[in-house]
Amino acid sequence: MREGADCSGKRADSLEDSTHYTMARTMARRGNMKVIGSGETLGAAIEGVDLSRRLDEAGVDAIFKALGEYGVLRFPRQTLTARQLADFSARFGDLEINVASAYQEPGIPEVMTLSNIVESGKPIGFADAGQSWHTDMSYSKTIAFANVLYGIRIPFRDGRALGATEFSNMQAAYDDLPADLKERLAGMTVLHGFNKFWEMMRREKGSKRPPLTEVQRKARPPVSHPIFLTHPLTGRQVLYANPGYSMRINELPEPESDAMLAFLFEHQLQQKFRYTHRWQEGDLMIWEDIGTIHNAVADYGPNEHRLIKRCQVMANRFFPAN
Ligand code: SIN
Repeated sequence: MREGADCSGKRADSLEDSTHYTMARTMARRGNMKVIGSGETLGAAIEGVDLSRRLDEAGVDAIFKALGEYGVLRFPRQTLTARQLADFSARFGDLEINVASAYQEPGIPEVMTLSNIVESGKPIGFADAGQSWHTDMSYSKTIAFANVLYGIRIPFRDGRALGATEFSNMQAAYDDLPADLKERLAGMTVLHGFNKFWEMMRREKGSKRPPLTEVQRKARPPVSHPIFLTHPLTGRQVLYANPGYSMRINELPEPESDAMLAFLFEHQLQQKFRYTHRWQEGDLMIWEDIGTIHNAVADYGPNEHRLIKRCQVMANRFFPAN
């Protein structure tokens, strides 16, 4: 099949051309890699690459390109150590060391464990990370470029994988805003706070995480970013706000800001922008955080074990801290 053609030989639609923000199913070859588009608003699988080995520059470029095209990428059947996960992730930018300073890989604090497994009475990972809509590090002066997650144990019930990760496409969400609203909000900024998500998890989801300490809160004071960003990989506009961390539109009076954020949060989660990844063990997922928001689905019980290792890639190569 030729590059840019779908399975029936038709050309792929661009996102803008498509009423429902879906793309045609595509298959393209980039060197050894086979990039298979999901046919949905986001998502592609990349076959033919062993991520435990160092990629050449052409391989890294091909992944950047696919991230721009598909936002969310799956590399199935990988076998990685924590060191190999960190080395692969670091090809895309500087890695973050999480402010919560918990569940970090010994000697590799850039790698965090997300898991509901308890060993000898002690949790081995963050049991409820990301279990509400957000984008990582919007609370940070240096925002996130990408998340890299490696699925080691995935819960299954009745033959069906649980603990999916859901995504929503923020380039499509921007495109779909009414023109007068785009004009009105252009140039405005949003205040994002780490503590908003943390406290919401404790208050509304019964999370056992302790309140952030004074030192942790001081390390992450709320920060502002433009409400619309230009996506560094696509040049398109992005709605850069998310229910998890966005607290306030700085240029609007508080009641108006609350109403506008409520509207934007509802707008950005419409089904037509959504894509769900159902995990398989051995999946390495990388998604870009600027044009997507995501949610970890908590539909599994304490004895249905999920174990993921995660790195976060910062976007300082594209957006220096403001
Ligand atoms: C995250 O928000 O990084 C966690 C996503 C997941 O565990 O599915």
